Amino acid sequence: MTTPSESLSSPDAHIPPIDGGPDCRYCDNRRYVIDAQGRLKPCPECGVAQAWKVQAVDTFSSRGGAALKQTFFNFKTVFDGKKDDLLHDLLETAEAFAAQPDEHWLVLWGERGNGKSHLCAAVANHLIAAGTAALFITMPDLLAALRQAMDLQTNTEQESYTGRMQTFKTAPVLILDDLGAEGNSPWSDGVLFEILDYRYRNRLGTMIVTNCSLDAFDPRIASRMQDTALSIVIENNAQDYRKRPADKR
Ligand SMILES: Nc1ncnc2c1ncn2[C@@H]1O[C@H](COP(=O)(O)OP(=O)(O)OP(=O)(O)O)[C@@H](O)[C@H]1O
Ligand SMILES: [Mg+2]
Ligand SMILES: [Zn+2]
Repeated sequence: MTTPSESLSSPDAHIPPIDGGPDCRYCDNRRYVIDAQGRLKPCPECGVAQAWKVQAVDTFSSRGGAALKQTFFNFKTVFDGKKDDLLHDLLETAEAFAAQPDEHWLVLWGERGNGKSHLCAAVANHLIAAGTAALFITMPDLLAALRQAMDLQTNTEQESYTGRMQTFKTAPVLILDDLGAEGNSPWSDGVLFEILDYRYRNRLGTMIVTNCSLDAFDPRIASRMQDTALSIVIENNAQDYRKRPADKR
């Protein structure tokens, strides 16, 4: 708890938890600790209590199949013995975001097949291993989950439209892939705006990935994505990894 004598500008000031979990001095609200072997473990004081949230949020995720194995470690930045500076910076920026997602947005845009979804999965896998409720979902999957909720017309938190929207708005970290792939409709623009505006106002950690240039978005959304006080925007114009010769990967 913040004591009245602690001013927020003091270097020792305690920052209240942004993820809504318990205030924990043991891990400084990171929800994880690093063990003697350097592995991330849920914080023994508060991280375990957060596990239900991690699971609840992950229910909707697009984090299946190959994505489960995509990590920072198997993201290559050296090809043919030459370091690719752009991919190297991209990897470092994604790692920094995963280390401290609170109050940060990371926006990646660019050509096909150059590792954007791989980095989304790597960030999600890192955070989930650390006990942080991170949701990795593609925009088409998110919209499908909402459409399904409209059809189901149930009231449970996990199945109702409002409950699902609430999860997307308040997930401690949201990693939204393939923005713009759904094609624009007034409904999908409205959904995206409601989610991103909520996350913007509450400074919730958000990673956004798209093939489209940011000008292609609703100006209200594009403007929030480019707020330099919060957001790092990186264009990834590296070559398509899928087309690299197998022996040069
Ligand atoms: N730098 C890299 N190191 C290792 N694997 C990579 C790298 N870049 C891409 N890949 C692999 O190439 C494949 C395509 O990458 P990914 O799905 O991340 O592309 P993308 O940028 O999301 O493309 P799209 O815009 O089509 O969605 C994946 O299997 C991914 O693991
Ligand atoms: Mg992708
Ligand atoms: Zn803790």
